[in-house]
Parts: sequence; C-alpha cells; structure tokens
Amino acid sequence: MDHADHVRLLAGGVRQNEGGTWADLGAGSGAFTLALADLIGPHGVIHAVDRDRGALAELRSSFVSAVPQAEVRTHVADFTRPLELADLDGIVMANSLHFVDEKIPVVALVRGYLRSGGRLLLVEYDSDHGNPYVPHPMTFETWRSIAAEAGFVDTQRLASVPSRFLRQIYSALSLAS
Ligand SMILES: C[S@@+](CC[C@H](N)C(=O)[O-])C[C@H]1O[C@@H](n2cnc3c(N)ncnc32)[C@H](O)[C@@H]1O
Repeated sequence: MDHADHVRLLAGGVRQNEGGTWADLGAGSGAFTLALADLIGPHGVIHAVDRDRGALAELRSSFVSAVPQAEVRTHVADFTRPLELADLDGIVMANSLHFVDEKIPVVALVRGYLRSGGRLLLVEYDSDHGNPYVPHPMTFETWRSIAAEAGFVDTQRLASVPSRFLRQIYSALSLAS
C-alpha cells in the first residue's frame, strides 16, 4: 500500500479540507495519520495516539506532505484505557483494533470520545481468522455487528485494497449514535 491507497481508503468518510478535531488510535509511524492530515487540511487537528513511543517519534520526523495539512499532536497512551479526548469529529483506527480480543468495551470507550454524529473510520484485514502478526482481525460483517453493539449506527463499507496478507484490507465508516 502507498499513500494514494491510504488516502483512498479514508476518502469516502472525510470531506476534503473539512478541518475539525480527529484522533488516530494506534497511529504507529503515521501512514494513515498523514493521509487523514492531507484530507482534512490545514484547519484540522489530529491527536495521534500509540503506546509505542518510538513509532510516534518516527511519525513526527517523517511528517512531510506535498499539500497543506492538519496539525498533528502525538500522545503515548494505551487506547484500551480511558483517554482525555472529547467531542471529536472523527476517529481513525487503522490496523490497530485487531490487537484487541474483546472489542465491544473498547469500541464503546472510543464511541465516548466522539460528538453525536461523529465518525469512526476503521481499516482492517477482511478476515475473522488471525495469525501471530494480526491476532484478532474481523470481516466487515463482524465489524458491523460489533459497531452496532458499541453504540454506532449506519456502518457502511467504503473501499478495499488487495493485500498479500489475509487477502484484502477494507475501510468502513460508522456514525456515533
Ligand atoms: C500494525 S500498526 C498500524 C499503524 C498504522 N495505523 C498503520 O496502519 O500504518 C498497529 C499500531 O497499533 C499500536 N497499538 C496496538 N494496540 C495498542 C493499544 N492498546 N494502545 C495504543 N496503541 C496500540 C501499535 O503500537 C502499532 O503502532
């Protein structure tokens, strides 16, 4: 996957240059943070959260873009525990929820950081069978039911890209009820 793929996976859930306050939970070295920053544009703020301090340092050092982009603030934290985030316009979780086995309580916690109608953009491997590297992935159908149980509505599939690993990666949009 390259930057164009990352942008394409998120684009259906974000209006170009819409700004707003977002979070990227499990941002890692920032592949999707950069895509989101390009999409929401210079009036946006993104809280990039990861428990891996080194990955966030890499994110900060490699954060260059060809287009005006959002401000990024990094936070070393565990997204399975309460975070100091509120009234967000949107949250991205890309390839990070598959590290969580019991997803509903975590997704419900994440729901609490969004304003009513706020968006959760999920990017995941389209499989219900994990491996040591991707322990707990979920198909879109499984995700739709988890999202509903955790307080999200209107979950829809946005885009997918082929993957040599677990067949394909999809993106999905859900709205905080
Ligand atoms: C496979 S990487 C994905 C990074 C990036 N989102 C992407 O798609 O390129 C997963 C990231 O999630 C982070 N992560 C996993 N569980 C986490 C947790 N409970 N709290 C914070 N970060 C977590 C890992 O440290 C890692 O950086």
